[in-house]
Amino acid sequence: MTSMQDLKDHYGFTDDDEELLKAFQPLAAQHKERFSGEFHNYLYGLPETTAILNTSNRQRLLEMHSNWFMSLFNGAYDNNYLNHLTRIGHAHVKVGLNVHFVNVAMNRVRHFLLNLIDENYPDRDERRALREATEKILDMNLDIMSASYREEELKKVFVSR
Ligand code: HEM
Repeated sequence: MTSMQDLKDHYGFTDDDEELLKAFQPLAAQHKERFSGEFHNYLYGLPETTAILNTSNRQRLLEMHSNWFMSLFNGAYDNNYLNHLTRIGHAHVKVGLNVHFVNVAMNRVRHFLLNLIDENYPDRDERRALREATEKILDMNLDIMSASYREEELKKVFVSR
């Protein structure tokens, strides 16, 4: 991936999507603690992820994951954001987390947010637009995080030659 603009073009992420996500920020902030509580309860409930989580400080992890949650709605979707997502991907490769669990975790995030939207946006068109913007930003995050895993795989191929 060369630039954030390419990524936005591929996902059809528009200025309207950006505005919708920014406008959602106050509601997301109100539910940030509940999000990180549920996210971590889930991950600490799986043996494969608990083993990795236990190597880090619980409070620090909570802060990192809840900051990431809020960064979905900060509106600064530029190349710094792209680099930030790449770094996040590499951080998980480094701790030995199987990419499968990144997908699993993103699925939880998706359900959390889509439910929050459904509960708070009675207007069908508004709800649909925000759901679509949310799906795009989550898929863009997942895309870049998975790319970090592919990069690491490629490195291994070259090193083993
Ligand atoms: C660190 C996001 C899933 C375990 C982080 C950081 C972010 C993040 C932003 C901080 C990275 C940094 O600044 O260096 C996410 C997202 C996920 C996800 C977006 C998927 C939706 C998971 C899962 C686990 C996990 C499933 C399960 C073990 C960790 C650990 C760290 C971390 C152990 C600390 C790494 C370190 O100490 O350098 N995560 N995470 N994450 N995450 Fe996640």
